[in-house]
Amino acid sequence: SADIKILAIESSCDETSAAIAVNGKVLNNIIATQSVHENYGGVVPELASRAHQLNIVPVVDQALKGANIDKNELSAVAFTRGPGLMGALLVGASFAKATALALDIPLIEVNHMQAHILAHFIDDPKPKFPFLCLTVSGGHTQIVLVKDFLEMEVVGETQDDAVGEAFDKAAKMLGLGYPGGPMVDRLAQKGNPMRFEFPKTEMPGLSYSFSGIKTGILYFLRDELKKDEKFIEDNMNDLCASIQHTLVSMLLQKLRKAARQYKVDQIAIAGGVSANSGLRNALNDLATQENWQVYIPAFEYCTDNAGMIAMAGHFKYQKQEFVDQSISALPRMKF
Ligand code: KG4
Ligand code: ZN
Repeated sequence: SADIKILAIESSCDETSAAIAVNGKVLNNIIATQSVHENYGGVVPELASRAHQLNIVPVVDQALKGANIDKNELSAVAFTRGPGLMGALLVGASFAKATALALDIPLIEVNHMQAHILAHFIDDPKPKFPFLCLTVSGGHTQIVLVKDFLEMEVVGETQDDAVGEAFDKAAKMLGLGYPGGPMVDRLAQKGNPMRFEFPKTEMPGLSYSFSGIKTGILYFLRDELKKDEKFIEDNMNDLCASIQHTLVSMLLQKLRKAARQYKVDQIAIAGGVSANSGLRNALNDLATQENWQVYIPAFEYCTDNAGMIAMAGHFKYQKQEFVDQSISALPRMKF
């Protein structure tokens, strides 16, 4: 038939995921989250690769079965080429190449960051071009001007840490588990965001920097703990609320600047940190002020998933943008 059936693979970090898109509709998005990293306070690359290796076949099988599709019906296979962890990416890339070879179907490479943005086209409502997307996760912090499905320009990004990393490192200093972002969010809801002030790093243009605030929090806590060893436990909610407030206002300040600069009123957010309730509330308030239309994908499609890779794969299939077997993973892949 003329139906476009894409199998997509995502393995850039610590989720092994497979999804199917039929004519641009994502049918089944299977995600195996690796719990092995929790004991280490962060993703351990070597362990991630091994877990991908174990998970990839069952995850792909489940995606095909769930979508009720036989592998021989597939039109193409899409995979995350980068950016991400080399060993992790290699598992997905090798699996996708072997599948394309065995089934004699086209192979499609996908940029993980572009895919995060294309996740907005999985469900309704969909943003209209041009729009700005703030992609915020454990590995990325970018403002992207999206002119068309595959035509995007990074207009601002972090020069050091990602904002999710700042959330996670702050959580670690407070003695919360990993990943700490969701925990900070939960405790912040009971705290006073104005209680403590942390120095924000001023950056030129639309650039971000989140490494300074990490050090600021570290020194602040060290000094307070010298005076009162129970400082953290007695002020936990206010600390979380104040840290979150600082990070969120840094994010939104540049987003507003970008929207004014590019005269765009369609604003999207993507990535794991877009789950943050403080960010969502502040974004909605700002949207009212600035007359923006805001788009936030379902949580399933905010964090790393193959549904977004399938969506990107579909758009590339329509343009016949295929790659051959000489392709390899690209850990520092740019747009
Ligand atoms: O997109 P994602 O699942 O993986 C990548 O890093 O690509 O994002 C994970 C990041 C982690 O840093 C995690 O702490 C953060 O997203 N995160 C949150 C929340 N939920 C996830 N940060 C703040 N508040 C949340 N509710
Ligand atoms: Zn991601």
